[in-house]
Amino acid sequence: MKRLFSLMILSTCVIAPIAQATPASDALLAKYKSEGAGKADPAKAKADWTKEAVGEDGQKMSCSTCHGTDFSKAGKHHKTSKVIEPMSRRVNAERYTDEKKIEKWFKRNCKDAWGRECTAQEKTDFLTYLIAQ
Ligand code: HEC
Repeated sequence: MKRLFSLMILSTCVIAPIAQATPASDALLAKYKSEGAGKADPAKAKADWTKEAVGEDGQKMSCSTCHGTDFSKAGKHHKTSKVIEPMSRRVNAERYTDEKKIEKWFKRNCKDAWGRECTAQEKTDFLTYLIAQ
C-alpha cells in the first residue's frame, strides 16, 4: 500500500508539467494538427513570446508587451492600461477553457504584436507552452 502511494505521488509529479491541458486546448491542438501543424516546440514559443516585430499600429511589440514574462502575474494592455489577468492556469483556472476565446485572441494578438496572423504551427507552439506555465 505504501509503495502504491509513493508510486501515485511519483506519477503525479511526472505528469504535472502537462497536467494543465483543458478540453479546449486539446481540441485546438488537434485542429491545428489537422491544418498541418507538426510537433509542438515550446522552446520556440518561449523565444517568440518576447520576439519583437512591428505590430498593426506600427509600434514595436511582442506578446510580453501586454502579458509580461511572469505568467503568474497580471499584465497590462500597452495602450488602454487595462489589467490582463495572469496567463498561468496555476493561478488563473479560467485560462484556455474556451476554444472560441483562444482563437479570437490568437487572431487579434498576433496581428497586434506581429502585424499578421499566427500560423497553425505557431499557435501549437504557443498553446503547448502556455498551458504548461
Ligand atoms: C496589445 C496587447 C496584447 C498583445 C501584444 C498580446 N496580447 Fe494576448 N491578450 C490580450 C488581451 C487584452 C487578452 C484578452 C483578455 C484576457 O484574456 O485576459 C488576451 C488574451 C490572450 C489569449 C487567450 C487566453 C485564454 O484564456 O483564452 C491568448 C492565448 C493570448 N492572448 C496569446 C497571446 C500571444 C501568443 C501574443 C503574442 C503573439 C499576445 N497574446 C499578445 C492582449 C494582448
